[in-house]
Amino acid sequence: GSGKFFVGGNWKCNGTKDSLSKLVSDLNSATLEPDVDVVVAPPFVYIDQVKNSITDRIEISAQNSWVGKGGAFTGEISVEQLKDLGCKWVILGHSERRHIIGENDEFIGKKAAYALSEGLGVIACIGELLQEREAGKTFDVCFQQLKAFADAVSSWDNIVIAYEPVWVIGTGKVATPEQAQEVHAAVRDWLKKNFSVEVASKTRIIYGGSVNASNSAELAKKEDIDGFLVGGASLKGPEFATIINSVT
Ligand code: G3H
Repeated sequence: GSGKFFVGGNWKCNGTKDSLSKLVSDLNSATLEPDVDVVVAPPFVYIDQVKNSITDRIEISAQNSWVGKGGAFTGEISVEQLKDLGCKWVILGHSERRHIIGENDEFIGKKAAYALSEGLGVIACIGELLQEREAGKTFDVCFQQLKAFADAVSSWDNIVIAYEPVWVIGTGKVATPEQAQEVHAAVRDWLKKNFSVEVASKTRIIYGGSVNASNSAELAKKEDIDGFLVGGASLKGPEFATIINSVT
């Protein structure tokens, strides 16, 4: 793996003031391995509440951001506002935004470039649909999504790549550690060929899709898996802590 493990909890569109207050207090009282970067991504409307109550040990990510400076963009949230609330990261290119909301590569690339230019870290998501995997197009799809990020940004320093096979997200169906490792190794190789040995070895490539407390340790052993982006299981404090602590 590359550098420090990185575990993100993507809470998606879940939670209430009360349930997230309980989740934060469970995370605050959990013992977390010091050698893991831990980030949680609450829904926008709860970022302030979470940031003000969670331990500094855990950083905050947004789940999306506007593509440029704020202004007359009804319903959007700007990078400047996220920074004002204390966010350090933003998740971009998540498959739910690509396939349900309809964001395309170019738009996602622009969002990444803007967020990075303002000093946010980007959790850049890529991943293939089931029919793309079955058609043998997994690498093509992932490389094309990667290229869209690459074409838009000038440095990989503040980017974590999240590989999430879409057919595994929220399904309880897990890619085998070998299936995940195969794509992670290919992504690292792509970074080496298109950028440098240094970028390839420094950039963390994390895995997402039905990660839970019973499969995380085995996945984490794989050479090119540098952490996780956890959805459902990150809504349970003790389980999320177990996942964090299983990776070292
Ligand atoms: O961002 C997280 C992923 O979409 C994984 O979600 O762990 O619920 O499958 P999941």
